[in-house]
Amino acid sequence: FDGSNSDFLKGVVAMDGLPAGDRMEVCFAGRSNVGKSSLINALTNRKGLARASNTPGRTQEINFFTLMDSHYLVDLPGYGYANAPIPVVEKWQRLLKRYLSGRANLRRAFVLIDTRHGVKAVDEEIMSLLDSSAVTFQVVMTKADKVKDKDREKTLNQVREKLSKHPAAYPELVLTSSEKGDGIATLRAIIAGLD
Ligand code: GTP
Ligand code: MG
Repeated sequence: FDGSNSDFLKGVVAMDGLPAGDRMEVCFAGRSNVGKSSLINALTNRKGLARASNTPGRTQEINFFTLMDSHYLVDLPGYGYANAPIPVVEKWQRLLKRYLSGRANLRRAFVLIDTRHGVKAVDEEIMSLLDSSAVTFQVVMTKADKVKDKDREKTLNQVREKLSKHPAAYPELVLTSSEKGDGIATLRAIIAGLD
């Protein structure tokens, strides 16, 4: 797909608000500010579709986007935001757990990792949750434009090493820049190829 046939469907704050699982679904998880909304904008060719901002923790709902008439793209709330009140964090953890373990049409989770930072403890928690929910996940490295070629390999090796410990991890990484467009076509092809 070229991504142009996309729309915002709805934001969900509780399980009973989820749209019917009548089509293939992929979700995007990652720390606050890692670039989830920007990646969805780049994938769909629509700059303002998923709101992207400098304010961490801005995406507070599970946001559903349609992609052609065949897929849902799901923007999950960012995690690891230090200033979020604990009850809020716990509410989202519960919703996230239920969503990940109960969504039969979810084909793959993309776990976004900032190319400057590598895998953090909170990322490992999500990966373990995906392992136990038996949701195959694939790591998407974001903001690749912010890291020099020669500095990249060390982080990528750290990520590969971490992934080797997660049974639900798909071993191949996707290196992206929503800003420059790197890796976007590759990621589209991966999504289109899921069955
Ligand atoms: P939350 O919704 O708060 O969890 O954040 P998010 O993961 O959706 O991040 P978002 O897409 O809002 O991006 C956060 C910031 O990073 C914004 O200022 C983006 O412009 C910037 N950003 C995202 N992707 C890239 C990228 O590929 N390259 C560069 N240089 N900046 C990026
Ligand atoms: Mg966002």
